Order: sequence, then C-alpha cells, then structure tokens
Amino acid sequence: MSRVLIRGGRILDPSIEFDGEGDLLLEDGAIAALGADLPADECEVVEAGGLWVAPGLVDLHTHLREPGQEYKEDLASGGRAAVAGGFTSVACMANTEPTNDDPSVTKYILERAAEDSPARVYPVAAATRRLEGRVMTEMAALRDAGAVAFSDDGHVIMDASVMRRVLEYSTLVDAPIVVHAEDTGLRGEGVMNEGVVSTRLGLPGNPIASEEIHVARDIRLARLTGARLHIAHVSSAGSVDLIRQAKESGLSVTAEVTPHHLALTDESITGFDTNNKVAPPLRTRRDAQVLREALAHGVLDCVATDHAPHAEHEKDVEFTAAPFGVTGLETAFSIVSDLYRAGEISALELIRRLSTAPARIFGISAGTLSVGAQADVVLLDPKKEWKYDASEGFSKSRNSPWSGQNITGRVEATFVNGRLVFRAGRGVVMQ
Ligand code: DOR
Repeated sequence: MSRVLIRGGRILDPSIEFDGEGDLLLEDGAIAALGADLPADECEVVEAGGLWVAPGLVDLHTHLREPGQEYKEDLASGGRAAVAGGFTSVACMANTEPTNDDPSVTKYILERAAEDSPARVYPVAAATRRLEGRVMTEMAALRDAGAVAFSDDGHVIMDASVMRRVLEYSTLVDAPIVVHAEDTGLRGEGVMNEGVVSTRLGLPGNPIASEEIHVARDIRLARLTGARLHIAHVSSAGSVDLIRQAKESGLSVTAEVTPHHLALTDESITGFDTNNKVAPPLRTRRDAQVLREALAHGVLDCVATDHAPHAEHEKDVEFTAAPFGVTGLETAFSIVSDLYRAGEISALELIRRLSTAPARIFGISAGTLSVGAQADVVLLDPKKEWKYDASEGFSKSRNSPWSGQNITGRVEATFVNGRLVFRAGRGVVMQ
C-alpha cells in the first residue's frame, strides 16, 4: 500500500469550493482524506507549509509533435515538461505527421504516452481529414479509440458548410469541437497583429477581424446545431464580447486563453524575437487587459498553453520566415499566477481556470481533490522567484519568450496517480 501525507498546506479545491489549511492523504493512487491533523502512520510525509495544494493542472491545448516531429518534442519530453509545469493531464492536438485523423494514430499516441509520459495524455483528433477542411473524419471511430475532442487546430475550416456538418456530427459523439478562429484570406501573409506596431516595424499584419469573423460564424453555427463549441486561444477583446453574448444566450460555448496572450502584446515584437511569433498573434495592450478580466470573471473558462515546440534552427531565422508558436508548459503557472499577485483573481478562481474548468470542458476525470478521485495533485509556491532557462528545461525545444528571465510562481511538486513525478530542484523523479 502506498500512502503519502501532504501536510499543512493551503488546500485549494474549486470542485468543492474549498480554500483552507489542512492535510491531504493520498492512498493507492486516490485521494483518501482531506482534513486537519491527519495521522501520519505508515505515510511518506511531504511538508507543504506555505504552499498551495491543488488538483493537478489540466491543459486542453498542447502540441506534443509525436508521431512525426520528434526532433521538436515527443510524448516523453512533452510529458516531462507537463509535470514540471504542474500539469497532470494534457490534451494534444492533431497536427502530427501523420495527422491524428485515423484511430490507429489515436491509439498509437495513447499507447506511447502510457509508456513514456509521466502526465496523462488525451488526444484531440482532427475534425477533417489531413486538416484540409474538406472531408470529415470518422468521429465515432476516433472517439472509440480515445479522442476526447476534435479540432483542425493550426489550420482553419474555412467552408462554413463543412463546419456545420462537423458540429452536427459532434453532437452524436457528444464531444466538443475546438476551433482555431482565423480567416486565412484575411490573415494573408500576416505575421503579427495588424496595427500601429506592425506598421512601424514594417511587418505584414493580421487583423483582429480575421479571428472575430470566425468566432462569430462558429457561434452562429453552434446555435444552429446545438453542438459544444470550444474556442481556442482567444486573442481579442471583440472575441470576448462575442463569447459573453453566446453564453448569455445559453449556448454551449466555452473558451480558453494562453499565458502569452495574457502577458504579452504586439509591442513585445519590437526586438523581432521570433519567440513572440504565435498564431493567433499577440494583440494590443487593451486586448490583453480585457482577456485578463474575462479570465478572472469566467467569460474565458480556462487557461490553455498552446505549447508549440519548434527547433532552434527553425526559429532562428528572420521574423517572417519563422514558424508560429512558443513553448508554454513549464512557465504557464508562473505567468498566469501574475493575475493573483496583481490582485486580479483569487487563488481558488485561478486554480479553477487551470484545472477544474478545463477538465469539465473535455470531460476529463481530473480537477478535483474530492475523496475517491484519482490522486493528481500539485504543490505550488505563488511567491517564489526562480530563473527559467529553456536550455535546462524538459521540453526538447527552447522557443520560450521567458527563457533567461527571473519569473515568479513555482511548481514545487507534482503527483500523478498518487506518485511523486516531479520535485523542484530534483527534476522529474520518475515517469
Ligand atoms: O502558434 C501556433 N503554433 N498556433 C497554432 O495554432 C499552431 C501551433 C503549432 O502547431 O506550432
């Protein structure tokens, strides 16, 4: 029998609205008790004084690159980066090689992840074959193979009639459709937000309308079909308005925001650092402020990293030539907990947005410390300053905008299924 007592922490469990000091007992992979002064008999004791004790974080949006682009990341390195960032469950997008548009690929990911990844991995399958936006995938077969959601993320379903059918079929398998909202025509060759800064830098711009048109379209299609629509990486204040209206009218619409869209703006690009080049692009300071407020108030349901590893030789080129994407798993808690330190969000609400809410959106059994639940737990220090150096991190790639910087908020320990998988200073201690 394995027993771990996490003693004397601030326990935060949004699933039962609990925020208070106490002990947490993990027994044989499950949460066995939560309370004051629990007996430590036959327990491995982990002291958590001054730390937050929370359900393991859940990321609905990562690119783990396996199969096919293992030089950027694989399920082992991505899983290690996940637990180092406090994430015990991660969903991985379908833009692998081959595309995850066939049950054999979904099963491959699940089998490899069970062997290689210390974090639980949940595949998101493609909505259309080869992410081409034309022919729907076999959603029922993919769902049976283990897909938790469907998305052409990284690509866009431009034809509204295809999107309508995708949404209609998703209701039969009761899975959310995750939309990457960017009109490819309007985006054109744009590499950053279209506005004053892109004009000053002489870089081709991608207007905010390219996102908002698709958010509006897909909300209308969600109304038509009754489907569960989840909007990925929201970047603009206008999208937030559309999502608020959709929720007020009772539609099943949810949305995520990335740490980089909360913390950075188009002004971050003035040094032409390609580690600020993402899709959708970083927007204006006002957009970032509206995103932060929307996350705090729950108009945006959750944080998702859009962890998008790319090799150094791919990113170390001129701005227009570099691929879109930044890594995010290992820094997400630090960056997002800035909202807590700035007094914009409570500790409990922050954990809800990083764990309980995303778990519910994809129907993943996580995001809770209730007795009997699987013991996926994270210990966090929201005040600890540390230096993040991507070259010493767990991801195979280094394309982080925060590498080399001192950041605040550190993951101290991560447990998956009741077993310690990460400890700060000691690294990933098992897989
Ligand atoms: O910045 C991004 N990178 N956005 C996406 O939607 C795709 C991702 C990738 O796969 O690199």
